[in-house]
Amino acid sequence: MRMLSGDKKEEEARYDVALRPKTLAEYIGQERIKENLKVFIQAARQRGEPLDHVLLFGPPGLGKTTLSNVIAKELEVQIKATSGPAMERAIDLLVVLGNLAEKDVLFIDEIHRLPRVVEEILYPAMEDFTFDRVIGKGQAERTRKIQLPPFTLVGATTRAGAISSPLRGRFGIVLTLDYYSAESLQDIVTRSAGLLGIPISEEGAREIAVRARGTPRIANRLLRRVRDFAQVRNDPEISRATADYALQQLGVDPLGLDEVDRRILDVLVKMYAGRPVGLDTLAAMVHEESNTIEEVYEPYLLQKGFLQRTPRGRAAAPKAFEYLRVAPPPEQLGF
Ligand code: ADE
Repeated sequence: MRMLSGDKKEEEARYDVALRPKTLAEYIGQERIKENLKVFIQAARQRGEPLDHVLLFGPPGLGKTTLSNVIAKELEVQIKATSGPAMERAIDLLVVLGNLAEKDVLFIDEIHRLPRVVEEILYPAMEDFTFDRVIGKGQAERTRKIQLPPFTLVGATTRAGAISSPLRGRFGIVLTLDYYSAESLQDIVTRSAGLLGIPISEEGAREIAVRARGTPRIANRLLRRVRDFAQVRNDPEISRATADYALQQLGVDPLGLDEVDRRILDVLVKMYAGRPVGLDTLAAMVHEESNTIEEVYEPYLLQKGFLQRTPRGRAAAPKAFEYLRVAPPPEQLGF
């Protein structure tokens, strides 16, 4: 069972909506981003202008979609949401742009997956709220500039490197979401448990928090599964012991690593002994998509110091040898 991927599952979307914070005040964690956004939002409102375009970077599950909804709510405007892969042709984007009202938020998830032709329509739309309509055919062909209402584009992407520089350069506000601290995640678990009517102790919430790999979506998912164990075991509340038992049953270790993480580390440590491995080779060996490794597993393993990126591929860091209780090869000891 996959417990730790940050990917959104269909069944989850429904719960997510109930748990999602609606305002900056309700939003837990990402303090610097919240403080800055508060200033930018207030300033834009005072000037009666739309907020400058916002680009949100970060691994899945950290709240990019949630934050875009919070931004719209704080601006007191409507939000229209779409995604890069949903915009197949130029007309798809033109329809969305045509439906915007003044100062609305247009949210484009996975903006790095916009087709080139669609992306090029965004440039003038972002810059001076226009697009070029082509009229006539052949010799008589002309373009006419069509004016759009001023709006705010909020783009989200998991991959900083995948977005073209002309597009990136047109965002006035670029925010990088970091993994959440255990303290913030504990507050999120406590808040979610309250909203879902799940009795939980402070230590129970803490245990889920430290094993949720810095990701609210995973914390909320683990909370629901741990609740199942508590209920079937007739525990009156989620205690630390309940959480520990349930998470162990779910294959989530005390550091929050799951099956796939362990397979990755196993390959890097036991088969390659700390030598670099190409992403596609690694993906094939652990039976995962390269993209999933790159966007979901690798960022967390890097952040935790288990993995290193080298010019020749991914390699186990000394901490990975320690974790698997394997003696590191001499070069890792600095000989
Ligand atoms: N639920 C998911 N993410 C959250 C956050 N950042 N703050 C509060 N509740 C959340």
